[in-house]
Amino acid sequence: MKTLVIGSGGREHALALALSRDPSVTQVHCAPGNPGMADIATLHQVDASDGTAVAELATTVGIDLVVIGPEAPLVAGVADAVRAAGISCFGPSKEAAQLEGSKAFAKEVMAAAGVPTAQARVCRTPDEARAALDTFGAPYVVKDDGLAAGKGVVVTSDRALALAHAASCEQVLIEEFLDGPEVSLFAVTDGVTVYPMQPAQDFKRISDDDQGPNTGGMGAYTPLPWAPYDLIDEVLGTVLQPTVDEMARRGTPFQGLLYAGLALTSNGVRVVEFNARFGDPETQPLMALLDSPLGELLKAAADSRLHEVSAPRWHPGAAVAVVLASKGYPEGSSKGDVITGVSDVIDADVIHAGTALSEGQLVTAGGRVLAVTAFGEDLNQARERAYRGVEAINFEGAQWRTDIAKLAASATTDQSAAREAEGPS
Ligand code: AMP
Ligand code: GLY
Repeated sequence: MKTLVIGSGGREHALALALSRDPSVTQVHCAPGNPGMADIATLHQVDASDGTAVAELATTVGIDLVVIGPEAPLVAGVADAVRAAGISCFGPSKEAAQLEGSKAFAKEVMAAAGVPTAQARVCRTPDEARAALDTFGAPYVVKDDGLAAGKGVVVTSDRALALAHAASCEQVLIEEFLDGPEVSLFAVTDGVTVYPMQPAQDFKRISDDDQGPNTGGMGAYTPLPWAPYDLIDEVLGTVLQPTVDEMARRGTPFQGLLYAGLALTSNGVRVVEFNARFGDPETQPLMALLDSPLGELLKAAADSRLHEVSAPRWHPGAAVAVVLASKGYPEGSSKGDVITGVSDVIDADVIHAGTALSEGQLVTAGGRVLAVTAFGEDLNQARERAYRGVEAINFEGAQWRTDIAKLAASATTDQSAAREAEGPS
């Protein structure tokens, strides 16, 4: 089977690597890809959000399965264009991708499906915003309704700041604050059958101890030794399956990766957000632990016969990804800094995101530059290997967190203590 991965970030590199390890996958192509992906795949230049161009490329190369990584092409309808060309595509239609593309739409679907989530109000004017802030009280949660690359959400106890964010967006959701640790739970679905993956956690703030501004994600790990043992079953029954069923009922089946961002609050599990694609960087450790063929799984989902293949299986053990970001991230990002030491990393995969080649040298080309992703018998060993890899790599102004999976690793034997300690990340 010839596969084509659309996108150029760490998630796409991790997916391409897992596809390359599936014996049924004969070729991996990526568009546009990155220098790390060039080692395992053939790269093609294409505008990832141009459905016609992506479908043409897939047709020309004779691709059997297109996997769309990022949200922007999905919301732009690239999966529809690929399917219209008669090619299997893993990724939801434009309409189904609205689960991520519009937070108001996601809330509407959750309400119809009885899925537990934060109470919310859609607000368009300062008066509506003021009233909603007063209804829910501090801490205030104000979300831009549309896609905002992880930067559209403001959580603050400063009412003026909350109002200013609302005023800067056309339409916002103001919602109840959810306490408790956050979990990312991904499910592969063909619109009917739902196969959850194992839960992962990412670290959204730039600095240790969850300090500083939000980022696209500074690291992730899986599994979560502190999570309740029945979490997957509970989320499948109360969140994933009802959402997939509701989308089918509406005539817009969701086929692809349904990402449930969850808060484990004192009142039970609540959905913080849905995404319509694999998470980044959670995909990096998940793919490092996947013990069943990814290509076969995604192709079966794309062809509406997911029930014919088995659910994903996982290596025992754990995996940790630590992101190295460039100077100035997340406000900006430095480009062109020379990266050294990548080939010195042993016992870990270096997953590229914002890298480029300049005169034969690997250089930084974005905010999140790469993620060192390691497997281990447990979280401690996975952390040791990942951080040894991090120490081997150098570039001017590199920033990384030193506490990825630290609390979870230190408390692997005491579930309740770890859960207390982890807190919201
Ligand atoms: P989202 O873009 O919806 O994932 O929100 C980004 C981040 O904002 C989440 O990962 C949470 O850390 C935080 N957040 C979003 N909604 C809430 C909420 N209702 N209560 C507390 N924190 C939230
Ligand atoms: N890990 C957060 C995201 O992919 O949206």
